[in-house]
Amino acid sequence: MKEKNKDLIIAGNWKMNKTPKEAEKLINKLKTKNKNSACKIVLCVPFIDIPLATDLTQNTLISIGAQNCYFKKNGAYTGEISAEMLKEIGVEYVIIGHSERRIYFNETDEQINKKINSALNSGLKVIFCIGENLQERENNITEEKLIIQIKNALHKVDKSQIENIIIAYEPVWAIGSGKTPNKDELDHICQIIRNTVFNMGKILPEKISVLYGGSINSKNAKEILTLPNVDGGLIGGASLDIEEFLKIINCTAK
Ligand code: 13P
Repeated sequence: MKEKNKDLIIAGNWKMNKTPKEAEKLINKLKTKNKNSACKIVLCVPFIDIPLATDLTQNTLISIGAQNCYFKKNGAYTGEISAEMLKEIGVEYVIIGHSERRIYFNETDEQINKKINSALNSGLKVIFCIGENLQERENNITEEKLIIQIKNALHKVDKSQIENIIIAYEPVWAIGSGKTPNKDELDHICQIIRNTVFNMGKILPEKISVLYGGSINSKNAKEILTLPNVDGGLIGGASLDIEEFLKIINCTAK
């Protein structure tokens, strides 16, 4: 179960949306309209929006994240961006292992593990995504799938670094579909995720942050975000609409 009094994390994953001009407008509105300081807000923006986003959010409670990084420090890797580069321009978080990267860009558990180690070693916090697809859910192998993803990703991660990893449970069938797991099922899975990390001898279950992502909106946010084993949300579509995003943030008011 989550640690009492730990602030919830509301992370927006903008995916490939918002040009720099659009990003500027959205961030400025968020800064003026957000009155809730009881949750941690993270905006995971496209690479091109990062310099502007970090500038606009200086001395605010909003942190900036990237949506990917490469695992090498530098070199002849055309088109890639390293964790070290992200750190230098003020990025605090990076999403690694999102299902869209696994599906459309063939990212493997092995690459994800290397990216996690590289991001942590560069001083970034990692939002590590896991989740089963519809077929795996229907075959009742959700738990097995998640456990394998966690074990592969945390391979060789130093015990002292685990606190810098946030695990985001994002069932692939729930992303952008309007569907979500029922609340008992969701809470149970988030507890299994906590216990898996604990059983690897790495960290106390309550110290681990577990987010849920997949079709969160202003109507279902409260029910999801108040579950005992859920420490926050990773929000896609609804984070692009400022009014909707603010309503989700306000669900976390203490
Ligand atoms: P939606 O909130 O649009 O379902 O996307 C979730 C997601 O993929 C966040 O990373």
